[in-house]
Amino acid sequence: MFHSFTGEFEKYKDSRFINLNNGTLGLSPSSVIDQQKTELERFEMNTSMGYGEAWQRLWVIQERLGLFINAKASDLFLRPNVTLAMNEIIMGLSLPDDSEILTTHFEYGAVVKILKMKAQKDRLSLRFIQPEDLYKDITADQAVEILAKEFTDKTKALVISHIFIGNGIEMPLKKLASICRKKGVLLIIDGAHAPGMLNLDFKSDLNDVDFYGGNLHKWMMGPKGTAFAWVNPIHQEKTFPVYGSWTTDSNAPPTMHSFANHPFAQRMLWSHTFSFNAFFGLEKCFDFWDQYGKEFIFKEIALRMKYLEDGLQAKGLTPLKSVNAKVPARLLGYDLKQLPKFEFEGLFIKGSDPRIQVGLPRIPGASILRLTPHIQNTQAELDAVILAFSRLV
Ligand SMILES: Cc1ncc(COP(=O)(O)O)c(C=O)c1O
Repeated sequence: MFHSFTGEFEKYKDSRFINLNNGTLGLSPSSVIDQQKTELERFEMNTSMGYGEAWQRLWVIQERLGLFINAKASDLFLRPNVTLAMNEIIMGLSLPDDSEILTTHFEYGAVVKILKMKAQKDRLSLRFIQPEDLYKDITADQAVEILAKEFTDKTKALVISHIFIGNGIEMPLKKLASICRKKGVLLIIDGAHAPGMLNLDFKSDLNDVDFYGGNLHKWMMGPKGTAFAWVNPIHQEKTFPVYGSWTTDSNAPPTMHSFANHPFAQRMLWSHTFSFNAFFGLEKCFDFWDQYGKEFIFKEIALRMKYLEDGLQAKGLTPLKSVNAKVPARLLGYDLKQLPKFEFEGLFIKGSDPRIQVGLPRIPGASILRLTPHIQNTQAELDAVILAFSRLV
C-alpha cells in the first residue's frame, strides 16, 4: 500500500524503536546526512576558501528553495530554525502605539514567548483566543470567521500557525489572508510544520500573507538547523534584521556579490561566520525531493497519516480533528484524558513492545498525544503501533 523508502534511511535510522515523532524533527535521508559530513571535512581542508565561497552557494540554495515553494529567492532569508526566523519578523515589526497583537492558545511555546517579549518591549497588548470551535465540523469560511470575529479596531497583527502543533489543524491561509488584508490586520504565520507537508505557493495561494516563517528540518527532512522566512515585498523596505553585520547596509563585501542586486535578501543574510554544512546539506535534500517528486512524497505522508487514523479509529480512538475533515488535520492529535492507561517514559509509551516514541506537545490547558508518521515509517511499523494501542484502550 505504501511505497517503501527503507533504503533511503536505513544507514542512520535506529530501527530498535518506532519513531512516530517526526513532527518534532524529521529523519533526513542518508544522502543528506552524508553530504553534511562531507561538507564538514571539505571546509576544514581550506577554511578561508570555504568561507569565501559559501555566500555564492547560499544564494543558489536560496534560489532552489524559492523554486520549491514558488517564491522569489529575493523575498527569502535563511535561518537555522523557525524560532529565529519568527524573532526577526516579530521583534523587527513596527506597530502603532496602543496596538493589539492577536494570537491563539494553540501556538508553540517559544513563539508565544517572542510575542510576550515584543508586547512588553513595545508596550503593546497581546490577546490570546481559544478557538475551540475549530474542532467542529466546519468549512474553511467558518474557520476564518471564528478568527476574524475577534478583530477589534486595536488589532494590528494576527500571529498564528499554518498547522497547529497539537491538533494538527491546517489554517485556510488564502481565505484568512484575504480577510486580514481587508481589515488592515497583518498576518504573520508560524509555518513550522508546513514545508514538506503542504505544497506552499507564495506567488499565488500565499501572496496576501504578510510574513511567514517555515522549518526545513521537520517535514522537509532537511538538515537540523535549516529554516527560512518569506516577507511580502510590500513590507520589505521596512523590514530590517534585529542586529547588524556585513550586509546590513549597501556596501556588501565582494564575496557576497550574489546578493548585491537583492537589497532585502542581502540585508537579511547571515553574513558572518557560522557552520555552513547544514545549509549545504539542503542541496541533497532538494535532490531527494526532485528524485521522487513533491506530489508523490506529500501523498505518501498523507497515506500514512490516514492509515494510522483509520486503524486507530477502528480500535475506538478518535483524533481531535480528522485528516478527512473539511478543514483537515495534518498531524494526529489525541486527547490524553481519554487514554488513562497510557503512561510515558520520556516520549516513549511505557511498556510498548516494540518501543514507540510519540509527541507530547505542550499546549496550555490540554494534554495531547501527537502521532506524526513520515515516509521513513513502514507499513509494518504502523500496524505494530495500531496493535499496541488496541491493547491500551
Ligand atoms: C508550531 C511550531 N512553531 C515553532 C516551532 C519551533 O521550531 P524550532 O525549534 O525549529 O525553531 C515548532 C517546533 O516544534 C513548532 O511546532
